[in-house]
Amino acid sequence: MSPINSPTGAWLDPEEEDAPTYGTRRKANKQPKQVARAGVAKQSFESNPDVQRWLSETSEAEGHKAPFAPESLVGRRDGAWVLSSLTHFYEQDLIVDVLREVKSGKEATVFCCSGGTGADHDLLAAKIYRPRMFRSLSNDAQYREGRVVRNESGKNVKLSGKGVPSRGSAKGRAFQISSWIEYEYATQQLAYGLGVRTPRLYSQTGNGLLMEYLGDAGQVAPRLSEIEVGRGEAQDLLDSLVESIALLLSGHRIHGDLSVYNILVWDSQAYIIDFAQAVDPRHGDGARALLARDVARVASALAPFGARIDAPAVADRLWWDYLQ
Ligand SMILES: Nc1ncnc2c1ncn2[C@@H]1O[C@H](COP(=O)(O)OP(=O)(O)O)[C@@H](O)[C@H]1O
Ligand SMILES: [Mg+2]
Repeated sequence: MSPINSPTGAWLDPEEEDAPTYGTRRKANKQPKQVARAGVAKQSFESNPDVQRWLSETSEAEGHKAPFAPESLVGRRDGAWVLSSLTHFYEQDLIVDVLREVKSGKEATVFCCSGGTGADHDLLAAKIYRPRMFRSLSNDAQYREGRVVRNESGKNVKLSGKGVPSRGSAKGRAFQISSWIEYEYATQQLAYGLGVRTPRLYSQTGNGLLMEYLGDAGQVAPRLSEIEVGRGEAQDLLDSLVESIALLLSGHRIHGDLSVYNILVWDSQAYIIDFAQAVDPRHGDGARALLARDVARVASALAPFGARIDAPAVADRLWWDYLQ
């Protein structure tokens, strides 16, 4: 299933001003629901939780799932776009609902979803790339320099040449970004398998990834930029991040963008996310400098809390160990 094209094949862009919204737009000044009887809020028949449960059990018993229609996406301009990828995860029984938007960045929006029967976690994070990304890929050479894009089975993905749609076309852009997402997915999967502390992945689709959610029902795990830590904890976090960098390097990858925004702290552990810009040091120049930058960034993020390493020396050691 491709979420990229409309049924008519037209290029849908939900970020355009006049793009249709998904569902019925809620009025900002909507009045509270009328109370039918004292203390009992009036509810439509379909939205009653018991009725919803019954509807979904009945349709599952009949061999088909109830249509996926999360309330939280109603009224969003990009609702149809987001829904198209999330429906894929719903069909896989990995999610049952979309609870809320967690973060909306330049490139992607992250949603917190409740886990389905196919997931081992109660909460999952869906990272859905914004349509804008599909437009700006003419500048993506910097991202792909030194990058071997592989599909899930480890085969190289061709980014140009025979059989690959031209980059100027809508199909070509969709191909580029899904190759890119596949690469991000494969890198995070590799990292997880090597023991790097990163969210466990569940699935991917043309414009999004689904993974374990860091946080709980009440709060999302803070980024390293948002917290203060004690001296002992800071040193532990720093040492574990260096360990993660080393593990990743043993799998021929350098994160390349290890800023305080791409490190989440949960249960006193530092998790690395956002592998979109990872590079393979065997291809392209500049890998050693990127490694040194990643080490320097984690060191300076935790230095204000008393954690210390000699970042250039650590980066050199990691590099020479890797070359052995
Ligand atoms: N698995 C996750 N659990 C909880 N929050 C997450 C998760 N993944 C991402 N986030 C939140 O979403 C933000 C953006 O995610 P990220 O992968 O860094 O996307 P971007 O490419 O837009 O930088 C993160 O800084 C973090 O706050
Ligand atoms: Mg990020």
